[in-house]
Amino acid sequence: MKTILVTGGTGFIGSHTCVELLKAGYQVVVMDNLSNSKADVVKKIETITGRTVPFYRADLLDVPSMDRIFREQKIDAVIHFAGLKAVGESVEKPLLYYQNNVSGTINLCEVMHKHDCKTIVFSSSATVYGMHNPVPMTEDMPTSATNPYGYTKVMLEQILTDLHTADPAWSVMLLRYFNPIGAHESGLIGENPNGIPNNLLPYIAQVALGKLPCLGVFGDDYDTVDGTGVRDYIHVVDLALGHIAACRYAFSHKGVEIVNLGTGSGTSVLQMIKAYEKASGRAIPFAIRPRRAGDVATCYADTQKAKDLLGWTAQRDIDQMCKDSWRFTVQNA
Ligand code: NAD
Ligand code: UFG
Repeated sequence: MKTILVTGGTGFIGSHTCVELLKAGYQVVVMDNLSNSKADVVKKIETITGRTVPFYRADLLDVPSMDRIFREQKIDAVIHFAGLKAVGESVEKPLLYYQNNVSGTINLCEVMHKHDCKTIVFSSSATVYGMHNPVPMTEDMPTSATNPYGYTKVMLEQILTDLHTADPAWSVMLLRYFNPIGAHESGLIGENPNGIPNNLLPYIAQVALGKLPCLGVFGDDYDTVDGTGVRDYIHVVDLALGHIAACRYAFSHKGVEIVNLGTGSGTSVLQMIKAYEKASGRAIPFAIRPRRAGDVATCYADTQKAKDLLGWTAQRDIDQMCKDSWRFTVQNA
């Protein structure tokens, strides 16, 4: 039985991936510094799966702590979610983002190399498609970034690719996520951002709950179905299952593969508001605001490579995503 170290395993996507890994029969070890999540998530993963999960409160920047995990556990592969992800904060604190995300990942790879663990699945992002590519996004398109967060993803894709070039024993999966939303159907784990949310779904959820009065819709004059921004929202459980498929692939192939994880279809902000109103039975008051700097009109994935290479496609629709998000929101209010 293979053991997977999940960095950032108490976070939103990491926790759902732990559940699916355990259900698929893998052993899971979680490490997280809890900078954006809570330790009780480990218990919730254990409750959902009925399995035990060793947890290390550790920081990617603390090499001796990272080393200790690899000394104490026989790790076969790493799924690397740990990182900071707030675009606006990355503009204000670029060094924090480069240090945490880039230096942290370099530390992780050095420790992996030392312990002869050379299989890594990395959380990249559709943000690397930048502002100028046409939709749907294909993995061979040129990458770019408009903010330090995005640059950390562009840089880390390059660093991990170079690592494999230097040592072909590495197996590297670069997974480009589109917009993960939703929650586990148990309502036990989901997305719980600190403070006022930056992203659409957590914001809508807070408005539906009555904690925030009104959603600002950033622009209604884009060249889209109704003028509002269009994104490829993907259920976090589907995304988690994409990681299981990526792990399976990585264990049987050396090399570097870039794979989009999205549904291949777009939903506008207004369509999302309607879907959430239906799922929650609550009105979502909104007001049109100016466009947000750095936003593209439309972003959705070409999903052919995920299907061909990994045999994976997303199954859950927008209604399911909103229903599961709402259940989690109500249960954790
Ligand atoms: P999250 O913040 O919920 O999870 C990330 C976890 O990493 C958190 O629990 C945090 O405490 C931990 N962490 C951060 N820095 C660390 C460090 N130095 N050492 C140890 N732990 C550390 O975020 P998420 O939404 O689950 O995202 C996971 C990954 O996916 C991130 O790399 C993110 O950039 C990427 N991603 C997310 C999205 C999205 O919309 N959620 C989209 C594309 C890519
Ligand atoms: N939006 C609003 N109001 C809000 C928040 C968002 O109208 O309060 C709109 C945005 O303008 C955009 C859409 O809702 O059209 C989605 O916005 P999000 O902030 O939820 O998501 P983004 O696509 O902008 O970015 C997210 C992550 C990035 C990641 C990217 C691609 O925040 O880190 O998905 O994976 F890189």
